[in-house]
Amino acid sequence: MSAILKMNAPTTTAAADPASAYVRIANLTKKFGDFVALDNVSLDIRRGEIFCLLGGSGSGKTTLLRTLAGFESPTAGTIHIEGADMSAIPPYERPVNMMFQSYALFPHMNVEKSEMLDIVKMGGFGARKPHQLSGGQRQRVALARALVKRPKLLLLDEPLAALDKKLREHTQFELINIQQRLGVTFIVVTHDQEEAMTLGQRLGVMNHGRIAQVGSPCDIYESPATRFVADFIGSVNMFEGRVSEAEPDGVRIECGELACALRVQRAVSCTRGATVWTAIRPEKINISRQPPAQAAGADNAVRGTVREIAYMGDLSIYLVQIESGKVMRVTLPNTTRGAERPIARQESVWLSWHGSSAVVLTE
Ligand SMILES: Nc1ncnc2c1ncn2[C@@H]1O[C@H](COP(=O)(O)OP(=O)(O)OP(=O)(O)O)[C@@H](O)[C@H]1O
Ligand SMILES: [Mg+2]
Repeated sequence: MSAILKMNAPTTTAAADPASAYVRIANLTKKFGDFVALDNVSLDIRRGEIFCLLGGSGSGKTTLLRTLAGFESPTAGTIHIEGADMSAIPPYERPVNMMFQSYALFPHMNVEKSEMLDIVKMGGFGARKPHQLSGGQRQRVALARALVKRPKLLLLDEPLAALDKKLREHTQFELINIQQRLGVTFIVVTHDQEEAMTLGQRLGVMNHGRIAQVGSPCDIYESPATRFVADFIGSVNMFEGRVSEAEPDGVRIECGELACALRVQRAVSCTRGATVWTAIRPEKINISRQPPAQAAGADNAVRGTVREIAYMGDLSIYLVQIESGKVMRVTLPNTTRGAERPIARQESVWLSWHGSSAVVLTE
């Protein structure tokens, strides 16, 4: 496995204070035969938080939840909940409930079994059969069921995957509401990054059975620890380069892909000559017809030609080919309404960004 997947980067380890850990997962490994589904996962979950697990398909999210719930036994490592070792505790004796990824309700069962329907605003639907409910309503009933036993820890595996975008957003806020009212600790699996950022006070990004980074949505987006995380969350322009000057408050990077030097005004722990990757988010780049004025704080500027424009309503995405041949992605909000002549395809433009807008990654 390559170095970029290495876990436990300095900013990513779980809180060390045992008092703050409600769930403590330590060096957890789960193998299915030879296949390693969870690879030495260590993670602390705080009491009363919504923690979102994010990661690609097959990265181990469901396996981690199932192991927490006791449906899978770890190959190695331990799980403590409120300080109690769960190794010998069967699923039904754990203070945990799980809302499964496929939220099948039994077709013969009435909805009314649940006492929590009011909480999920499904109070009038008690007599319905599951097939008489919409997908979104069924998911809310499934949530009510999961809450009935008043678990201290609720594990939700893709709880909103069946909902359309609007209902999904609405239900995300409902979920936060319910979680705050009941004071339950939530661990929510999703592969939708916007959902993770809306719901989660903290996120854990998984990759190949490992935790790549843990942090607040802002930490993960603005200060990704690795190329994998930078690329997985949001869009990013990434350039490989070599450090030519390393000062305490910033670096200068010679960058072939950019055909110029990059200045990054951020503390980076790297040495001269090291190979690094500079990541710049598309919304942090300015696009202009004129060369940017130095006074405007544009430490970095390159010329290019607009190849594609995608109008998204609230913003537009520009694909700009710079002189080295590389294509950069830039997003601009559509704040003006036809006041200025918009930049068009094939126009020559300048791209510029501030030295503090880029992140330098060493793995
Ligand atoms: N019982 C099992 N036997 C063998 N392999 C398994 C078993 N359960 C899961 N796996 C494998 O472990 C890996 C992780 O699976 P898991 O279900 O945890 O992924 P996931 O992150 O939840 O993915 P998705 O987003 O697709 O739901 C996958 O490669 C899967 O095929
Ligand atoms: Mg899954």
